[in-house]
Parts: sequence; structure tokens; C-alpha cells
Amino acid sequence: MSRVAYVNGQYVPHSRAAVHIEDRGYQFADGVYEVCEIWKGQIVDQTEHLERLDRSLRELAIRAPMARGALIRVMREVIERNRVKDGLIYIQVTRGVARRDHYFPPEDTPPSIVMTAKSVSATKNEAAAEQGVSVITTPENRWARVDIKTVGLLPNVLAKQKAKEAGAKEAWFVDKDGFVTEGGSTNAWIVLNDGTLVTRPADHGILRGITRSVVMKLAEMKGISVQERAFTVEEAKSAREAFITAASALVMPVTRIDDTVIANGAPGSIARDLRKTFHDAAELIKLGGA
Ligand code: PDD
Repeated sequence: MSRVAYVNGQYVPHSRAAVHIEDRGYQFADGVYEVCEIWKGQIVDQTEHLERLDRSLRELAIRAPMARGALIRVMREVIERNRVKDGLIYIQVTRGVARRDHYFPPEDTPPSIVMTAKSVSATKNEAAAEQGVSVITTPENRWARVDIKTVGLLPNVLAKQKAKEAGAKEAWFVDKDGFVTEGGSTNAWIVLNDGTLVTRPADHGILRGITRSVVMKLAEMKGISVQERAFTVEEAKSAREAFITAASALVMPVTRIDDTVIANGAPGSIARDLRKTFHDAAELIKLGGA
């Protein structure tokens, strides 16, 4: 089955989907994005993701490319045309195409929008979760507004590649005071001995993950307490459990940080349970005929 992408108003074969060379996303990383999970033929946490997309656009003064309702219709169409039942949808909006100049282009420059959807093997993800993943730590070297979900991801790319070369799945950024900020494409969590979850407050130093917010809600439903505070690498290494969250990973147990094995080296029971029950706390919107 051939894949289909949405590019500025048209559905085109994925292999030929392209933007102009003077798209500001291409030239300046002047754009934002969202990734939503598709689970069992349902879009997960669509409202929260679209709220965050609006916020990212507002923070960068990029116009919304279309009204919310139209955007949702395109999302559904892209998912359905690609017959995705379990996977991800990617939405990217940039400040549009204009002659290269650092200043914003004229007011009437239309923003660019692209969407793609892909299937992801649920069994492969489950296998990773059964095993747990390793993370490495790396100095925080990103800009001061990582709360905006921009496509400017070069430090994240370099950190994750470093992780991969070290045989790990994720890299945790560590600030100058030794505290973990977040992963290259995930939020970072630890579990204390008494079962309390700890994750960094969502200020400007991390992306306020939607999966993170849903896990907080889920924890509340289960009577598990959550502390929003920074934790050090040392505290994480001696924690009862550690895990990462993202739309693309859900709740993924971490079993090793650098050279330190966490607890007994197996995924922790709290992370496993949060993963298994994650969708109980999520918003699920059914797709038709996917
Ligand atoms: N990444 N932190 C960073 C830096 C991220 O890139 C992401 C998501 C998260 C988790 O956010 P959420 O729970 O809303 O997915 C945290 C997406 C999945 C990506 O870049 O592919």
C-alpha cells in the first residue's frame, strides 16, 4: 500500500511529497510540530495536542494554517488514507515560503502545513517495554524555550545519536546543576521507594508532554502521588524505578542509566502498570473505516 502525505492543501504520494527550498522550516527551522498516537483506530489526546500546537504557533507568532475543525478533518483523512490503526500522525506548520531573509516574511505569507501518518508495530513497542530501555546522560545544550515544540531539534538529534551509538534508546539532558531536564524526545520520570512519582516541573526547561499530563491524571486516579520537582542523575540511578513518556513511546521503563542498572534491572511494576492502563486516562476519538 502506498503512503499518502498532505502538503499545503493536497494529498500527494509520500514518495513525491515536497516543500519549496525556501520554506522557512527548511531554512531556519522556523516551524513547529505535533505527534499524536493512533491506538486501535482511535486518535489519542487530540484536543491536548492541538491546544499545544496552537500555543507553539502563538509563541512564535506564526498564523494558524487553518481552523481547528478543518485541521481535524485533514488529520482523519491522512490517517484513513494511510490505513493506520496503530501508529503516529505527524503535523508540521512553518512560517511559510519566502525569499531567504531572517526577518519575518510579509504578513500575507501563508504558513506551510504538512501531515504524514505511519503505522508502528504495537508488538515491537511492547517487546521494548518488556525489556526496558537504557538511557545515557548528556549536558543540556538547548535553547531556553524548549517548552515550544519547534522543529529545531539538532541538539536532540545529536544527543539521541550519541545514545544510539552507546547502545541506548534515549539521552537525558542534564542541566549545569546536575538535574535531569528531559530526554531527547521524551519526558523523564523516577519512582521513589514509597511509590511516589517524580518529574521535573513543566517550566521553560522542558516540553510539557501530553503523555506526561495524562500519566499525572492516571496517577491521581490510582491514588499514586506525584512530585513535580527536579531530580539529579544520582537520585535517578538509585531510584526504585525510572521511565520515560512520549506519544511515540507511551510509558517506557528505563532499566539502565549510563553504566548503572536500575533496581534489579527489570522494568518496575509501577511503570508497567501505568503503561498497561495509560489509555484509561487518555482522550480517545474513534476514526471511521481506518
Ligand atoms: N516527542 N520532550 C521532548 C523533547 C519531545 O520531543 C517529546 C515528544 C516529549 C513528550 O511529549 P508528548 O508526551 O506530548 O509526546 C517530551 C515526539 C513524540 C517526537 O518528537 O517524535
